[in-house]
Amino acid sequence: SLPDRVKIVEVSPRDGLQNEKGIIAAAVKIELIDRLTSAGFQNIEAASFVSPKWVPQMADGAEVMLGIQRLPDTIYSVLTPNMRGFNDALAVRADEVVIFGSASEAFSQKNINCSIAESIARFEPVAQAAKAAGLRLRGSISCSLGCPYQGETPIQSVVDVAQRFLALGCDEIDVADTIGVGTPKRVRQVMDAVTRIIDPARISGHFHDTYGQSLANILASLEAGISIFHTSVAGLGGCPYAKGATGNVATEDVLFMMDGLDIETGVDLNEVVDIGMWISAHLGRKTASRAGSALAAR
Ligand code: HMG
Ligand code: MG
Repeated sequence: SLPDRVKIVEVSPRDGLQNEKGIIAAAVKIELIDRLTSAGFQNIEAASFVSPKWVPQMADGAEVMLGIQRLPDTIYSVLTPNMRGFNDALAVRADEVVIFGSASEAFSQKNINCSIAESIARFEPVAQAAKAAGLRLRGSISCSLGCPYQGETPIQSVVDVAQRFLALGCDEIDVADTIGVGTPKRVRQVMDAVTRIIDPARISGHFHDTYGQSLANILASLEAGISIFHTSVAGLGGCPYAKGATGNVATEDVLFMMDGLDIETGVDLNEVVDIGMWISAHLGRKTASRAGSALAAR
């Protein structure tokens, strides 16, 4: 049976905006996060502390983290590929740090400039420091359903990285479909394999909608016992090192589906629709959310 409640991790301030070409003012990112906080999200991925040469859009992470109005029960997460990023995250009192590896060797090289094994070695001190500082630790597994450079990802590669993240002490582990090529049958197989070794309550689904499969993949994940999903308002998103990958699954669409499934999210859909229309207008484009545009037109 499906869960009564799911946790939605809103990733638009990070995954949603990181690939935008025009630089977005910190004030806009701050307003976005503040509005998302008001809408009821329990967990918001707010920034990345990565090399600004690699991802220029995320260079103002500290300003953003220091400018937002935080609620004590909301988790503000930031990406930290190395100790430098971790120290920056600690300085702005992030609640959760995210190490991000890949189930594909080729993508690991393109995205973080090292092999999977080297990345795990680099994450080890970050994981230890996070635990010592009492921060939550999350591990994200890119290319869990396929890789832009290597094609289909063997399920065992996903399980191997998940096992390593578990050993590093990750509280939560993301099965991420970076380029949105997964389809429900395969997603179910990957989730079943990962939940054989890790409590499903600690696994999340992170789906991009490149091929229009993300809602179906979320349903398949729900059926596999997963109850944490990453979404992005207006379907914003994409990774600069994953050619052709489009946005994350739109938050509005997921909230609409959860409502129909009688699954609670704690998030106010109407507020999210407004946020989606506002940020889309700011970026000068139409929302990529089907539910968002339908509800806004009502
Ligand atoms: P590198 O070039 O191998 O490392 O990059 P380096 O240590 O030689 O550093 C290069 C330069 O970056 C140096 O500056 C460092 O100081 C600086 P220079 O000496 O040349 O002036 N630097 C930093 N600056 C600020 N903060 C830092 C930092 N670290 C180094 N933390 C590195 C290795 C990992 C740093 C680089 O490859 C990088 O930053 N990659 C980030 C890529 C990224 O953010 N990708 C998008 C996020 S992942 C994603 O979107 C997928 C996800 O959504 C899930 C999914 O969908 O799959 C999570
Ligand atoms: Mg992503």
